Amino acid sequence: SLASTWKEIEFPPLKNDLLLRAAKGEETERAPVWVMRQAGRYLPEFMEVRKSHSFFECCQTPSIASALTLQPIDRYPRLDASIIFCDILVVPQAMGLEVLMEPSRGPVLPNPLVTPADFSRLREDVDVQKELGYLFEAITMTRKGLAGRVPLIGFCGAPWTLMAYMCEGGGSKTFEKSKSWLYKYPEESKALLLRVADVCADLLVGQVLAGAQMLQVFDSWAGELTPYQFKTFALPPLLHISHKVRHVLKTLGHPGVAITLFAKGANAPSTYALLADPAVTGYDNLGLDWTVDPVEVRELVGKKVNLQGNFDPTVLYGGKEGIEQEIKRASERWLKAGGGWIANLGHGITPNVKPEDMGWFLECVHKYSARS
Ligand code: CP3
Repeated sequence: SLASTWKEIEFPPLKNDLLLRAAKGEETERAPVWVMRQAGRYLPEFMEVRKSHSFFECCQTPSIASALTLQPIDRYPRLDASIIFCDILVVPQAMGLEVLMEPSRGPVLPNPLVTPADFSRLREDVDVQKELGYLFEAITMTRKGLAGRVPLIGFCGAPWTLMAYMCEGGGSKTFEKSKSWLYKYPEESKALLLRVADVCADLLVGQVLAGAQMLQVFDSWAGELTPYQFKTFALPPLLHISHKVRHVLKTLGHPGVAITLFAKGANAPSTYALLADPAVTGYDNLGLDWTVDPVEVRELVGKKVNLQGNFDPTVLYGGKEGIEQEIKRASERWLKAGGGWIANLGHGITPNVKPEDMGWFLECVHKYSARS
């Protein structure tokens, strides 16, 4: 298993370490830039592969996942990071729930968790090597294919966001089913969240041992919670993940990697106060959505934690001039905020973006994030 073999895997030396330096709090010469969902439906070469392979077939076939991960890296030499092609919903799959990806609806779980009695349908002990070994294989393959061009990011979904999918059975506007669990079954919800967290932690450890150089946890639905619910339900399993990942890697003699928490919409000042110190949380970087101003966030969190973000994803529909104006304006705020900055959108890139506009966006970030 990877726990005993990871030291023997050999990788080409890294030529661009901007991301890793910014993730250590360095005010780099310019901001490293990558984009959530950079391997996605806006790329014609991605759609070409999807014609002949289902979404989860792409995730589960290491050669395809690796090729898809490299597509944006090959097309855009200005990207400073790659992120492995996979999905957050492979964790519910590993726990025994069926997940489908439907072209019009997105993810669908045909048999969601309705009451705590449904826990009986979840696998007791999840062996991530057995259930998700394809992801580890894809990571090792991709690290080699990158040939040191940029670092490779591994990821997982946050327990609350995964619980939301597991209880709703898919996406939701109201989160009626998943949030009612928090009121009706608070203790069982906490137990479920911790079970999910434990699988997430194993998944992240496996990705690092397979070659991932940084990690990100996506809490896409954090903004649906009250600040009290975030603190009570979402945060403890997030801390379980970071603490377990750090502990297990240390035990195996691994130096560890930086971890980013992207808790979309979790923008209450009291929430920032909880997340400000990586020594406590285990999260070195906070990903920001586009609704906040980096200078204001810096005032709340101080400089111990690094920040990632947070250009408005729709700026990519703003045309060449609009893109340049906004990247210039927003970059000035980031440079004023100071501290480690990883440039990104405030959420994933959307399917109708023109590939050349993504290229122009990256060019603008290189130009306007430069520190003189
Ligand atoms: O390039 C990358 O960022 C890496 C790959 C990646 C995907 N999903 C591929 C994907 C990553 C990091 C994710 C994370 C993910 N998946 C999140 C968290 C990030 C976020 O956007 O908030 C969430 C909530 C999911 C669940 C999910 N997967 C949804 C809601 C959808 C449908 C919406 C959409 O954009 O299509 C997916 C499908 C999905 N995941 C696609 C891709 C490239 C497109 C589906 C397709 O090819 O048919």
